[in-house]
Amino acid sequence: MRLLEVKNVDKYYAAGEMVVQVLKDVSFDISENEFTAIMGPSGSGKTTLLNLISTIDTVSAGNIYINGMDITDEDEEKLSEFRANNLGFIFQDYNLLDILTVRENIELAISIKGDSPVVSIEEIAKILGIDHILDKYPNHISGGEKQRCAFARGFINNPALILADEPTGSLDSNSSKAILKSMEKLKQRGATILVVTHDAFVSAWCDRVLFLRDGMIWKDMYKNEMTNREFYNKIIESMSVLGGDSNDF
Ligand SMILES: Nc1ncnc2c1ncn2[C@@H]1O[C@H](COP(=O)(O)OP(=O)(O)OP(=O)(O)O)[C@@H](O)[C@H]1O
Ligand SMILES: [Mg+2]
Repeated sequence: MRLLEVKNVDKYYAAGEMVVQVLKDVSFDISENEFTAIMGPSGSGKTTLLNLISTIDTVSAGNIYINGMDITDEDEEKLSEFRANNLGFIFQDYNLLDILTVRENIELAISIKGDSPVVSIEEIAKILGIDHILDKYPNHISGGEKQRCAFARGFINNPALILADEPTGSLDSNSSKAILKSMEKLKQRGATILVVTHDAFVSAWCDRVLFLRDGMIWKDMYKNEMTNREFYNKIIESMSVLGGDSNDF
């Protein structure tokens, strides 16, 4: 079933006297339980696209349907309820509150939604390998652990769609692997993830990679029967065609 439909989306920003078009006629669908990576050079519009889907920002033209509802056509009150019931967010800077323990940070996400979670904190913490640090404070745990807490928070309400902007951005490869393992478990539980990443390891683990270039979809690549390694090589190939310098990704 189609979970997300992005249809002919344009996004303009005013930059002083100038108007810049950041997204140009972007269209794609995402199915339930599909894991999709969005890649592209810096400035190609990845975060902008994620922000539109997150309802954090509004489209200039086009429509975005999540679970059949057009989120470009709803008022803020409806949207805030919709976000709480359907979307999970994982931001690069984790967004954990330092004065709360890990457990309390996760609990906060539950109370925002207002009803009881589908999985318990203990259960999700175990899946993500953070059950031993639930009573610690964020500044006493590692970046990888923080990121897994952010995953726990994004996932605890069992959202229809999890949106992540560079979840492994500042992590070393071991922590990134732990995140990927966590994502795998979330996938087995039926999650759908849209993740912006510069990291081909993360993308290779996904079912599909959407490449953006200058605000347009440049390539839509599916893993199908490929192994992670084969898909990784394909992704690296595309990155070098697209970006020239992969540091720019
Ligand atoms: N609020 C804004 N006002 C004006 N221009 C903006 C705004 N947000 C983004 N832009 C511009 O839109 C373009 C796309 O930005 P975006 O943040 O979506 O890129 P990105 O692909 O996420 O890049 P990165 O990989 O560096 O995170 C950039 O040229 C940026 O300068
Ligand atoms: Mg970005």
